[in-house]
Amino acid sequence: MHLRPLLTGDAELLADWGADPVFCAHAGWNADASWRERVAWARRDLPDDLLRRAALVGADVVGYVDLHGAGERRELGYVVGGRDRWGQGLGHAVAFAGLEWGFGSLGLAEIWAEAIDANVPSVRILERLGMRETGRGGDATFLGRNSFYRVFTLTATEFAP
Ligand SMILES: CC(C)(COP(=O)(O)OP(=O)(O)OC[C@H]1O[C@@H](n2cnc3c(N)ncnc32)[C@H](O)[C@@H]1OP(=O)(O)O)[C@@H](O)C(=O)NCCC(=O)NCCS
Repeated sequence: MHLRPLLTGDAELLADWGADPVFCAHAGWNADASWRERVAWARRDLPDDLLRRAALVGADVVGYVDLHGAGERRELGYVVGGRDRWGQGLGHAVAFAGLEWGFGSLGLAEIWAEAIDANVPSVRILERLGMRETGRGGDATFLGRNSFYRVFTLTATEFAP
């Protein structure tokens, strides 16, 4: 698993992932968007406080990871696509690569993340990364079910003792 900046040509791939309504429901993407709208969304300039890297196995883009926020404390986000790649350990690997990127290259002091309680794989990824659960976030819905966010955090010292 390695990370690199997203390239313009990655946008079509992300748009393909979004053609799957189940993927969209899990990822919180708009399933009603057209393929062209999704390409444009993937190609848009990201805000200054949102850093995104494509995650690759060999030459294949298998997901992406986000670090969002300003300063030395940022929020981790992770996506694996397409859906046929789920359940093979890639989610854990993408999120772990995000921690290495954040604490290593970026020199962050703390990385936090939140996962919807009903999104079992997402919660499991944060737990297995050794992130500390710090509390309950706001209400959320996941696949039509009422749920809530669980908030986790990890400091650079905890990541690399
Ligand atoms: C959440 C997501 C990243 C998981 O990716 P993945 O490649 O399937 O994750 P992994 O294969 O590494 O599995 C992670 C853990 O969940 C478990 N798991 C996977 N699918 C599961 C399921 N359907 N039910 C219960 N547990 C499941 C795995 O066994 C693993 O646990 P383990 O480490 O104890 O074995 C992926 O579903 C995704 O991209 N979803 C949309 C975006 C999203 O929800 N991102 C998270 C919020 S930022």
